[in-house]
Amino acid sequence: MSLQDKIRQLTELRSQARLGGGEKRIDKQHQQGKFTARERIDMLLDEGSFEEYDMFVTHRCHDFGLEGQQFLGDGVVTGRGTIDGRVVYVFSQDFTVLGGSLSETFAMKICKVMDQAMKMGAPLIGLNDSGGARIQEGVNSLAGYAEIFYRNIQASGVIPQISAVFGPCAGGAVYSPALTDIIIMSEQTSYMFVTGPKVTKTVTGEDITIENLGGADIHTKKSGVAHFKAEDEKEGILLIRKVLEYLPQNNLEEPIITECDDPIERIDDELNDIVPEDPNKPYDVKDVIHRIVDYEEFLEMQRLYAKNIVTGFAKFGGMPCGIVANQPNYLAGVLDIDASRKAARFVRLCDAFNIPIVTLVDVPGFLPGSFQEYGGIIIHGAKLLFAYGEATVPKITVTLRKAYGGAHDVMGSKQLRADLNYAWPGAEIAVMGAKGAIEVLEGRKLSKVENLEEREAMHQKLEEEYREKFANPYVAARFGYIDDVIEPRNTRWRIARALRSLATKKEVGPPKKHGNMPL
Ligand code: HXC
Repeated sequence: MSLQDKIRQLTELRSQARLGGGEKRIDKQHQQGKFTARERIDMLLDEGSFEEYDMFVTHRCHDFGLEGQQFLGDGVVTGRGTIDGRVVYVFSQDFTVLGGSLSETFAMKICKVMDQAMKMGAPLIGLNDSGGARIQEGVNSLAGYAEIFYRNIQASGVIPQISAVFGPCAGGAVYSPALTDIIIMSEQTSYMFVTGPKVTKTVTGEDITIENLGGADIHTKKSGVAHFKAEDEKEGILLIRKVLEYLPQNNLEEPIITECDDPIERIDDELNDIVPEDPNKPYDVKDVIHRIVDYEEFLEMQRLYAKNIVTGFAKFGGMPCGIVANQPNYLAGVLDIDASRKAARFVRLCDAFNIPIVTLVDVPGFLPGSFQEYGGIIIHGAKLLFAYGEATVPKITVTLRKAYGGAHDVMGSKQLRADLNYAWPGAEIAVMGAKGAIEVLEGRKLSKVENLEEREAMHQKLEEEYREKFANPYVAARFGYIDDVIEPRNTRWRIARALRSLATKKEVGPPKKHGNMPL
């Protein structure tokens, strides 16, 4: 064979690999409203930046007729490219090849890019669309999964790992995305579950559709497994690119500071009136967030799950930060199991990747009741406590209104080593609200007053006295638990200036293997 022939052969092999499972299956993929593995990579990466690895890999299985079904690349496209000029590693499962099912060699290809991502200190992006373990390969397929899981674990907190689910992701396969930092699911076309509807029906008798068991809606609203629900794959891919703007390449680097034309000293007079005077009246804390961050841009994570707490990324003067805020608009911003877990995981994500945390507090306390206690609110609330206390990134807390009881301590208090604690003048920082406090302290005395009107009037008076005395930011400020009471309209520049001053923060905890977080 001449060299020209050999070059022609190479070109042919490449074309063959690029066809994956063939035209027919590609058409079927498109008919289902899905892109192919390669189309997804093209949309994700900077144009022309993709370098593919292992295009000629084929499986080594000789059972169940698989020896006659060889596809170049073996069902997963892997390689390296750039996003906004930054190197990332990527794998994209190809459903057109044996349903994107995972074989020994398929796993080997993924492990190769994972290893390189770790060595190079670059983010790893996984695009999932697979029927799970390749049944014909048996334990080799299981071993392949476990190799991936192990690498996900080792990479956790070292490089950002982002998973998009654009098709099936079932059985043990779900655990690779679950071990990553961020999961994005596309509406209609994706689902994740440990056990599918058929087995569920056989084992438990429950009749349930795929969508209701593990669709994007379920995982973004009910289970909290996924962080983003994308309208379609295009939006999902844009979200991956967007999230990366806030994350550094690895845990030894800082997030990238971008140019910012939105003046950090921008004063917003309307903030002075944003919180209703009545402490029981709700407002949308996202209005506060939008007003104080650069260009009103806030990338909210888990928007539909545990809406009583808001988490997401924003920038101040071009500096990325994570924002955690109680949401008075939903369940009065109370901390419950789901909210505690959601915020704890977010705080840890920020801390792992050197992203400062800005906390906006307006919290009436932890949600009472047997449902919460039986569900282990003690342990879940402790997760948030642990996450804040352990985080060594710059931490700035602004108490907007209520900060009662244990919830005050948990939400980035000074004692959990927040660096700067501010409060708005209307803040109420106390052990509990006035009504509850008077019932505990004076309940017996009040119950002895027989005249109902008189009793009510006394209650009101005592509440008023309590509020005067404790429901303000100055008691905490007198002890130095609050560094300054600030006018709401100055919040943006106070935070931005604080973030700049904290950029050189260095804090190292005591040496240990790892803490025993209340999981
Ligand atoms: C081998 C598979 C496969 C698999 C699909 N295919 N899944 N081949 N192993 N796991 C093949 C099909 O035979 C078919 O081949 C092609 O992929 C497309 O599949 P269809 O069924 O035609 O597609 P669709 O109707 O869209 O259904 C998709 C699906 C279904 C719901 C994912 O294929 C399915 O139920 N697959 C099996 C899922 C499963 O039980 N996986 C194992 C889970 S256990 P042809 O040649 O006809 O095109 C597991 C353990 C992991 O994953 C443990 C890790 C610790």
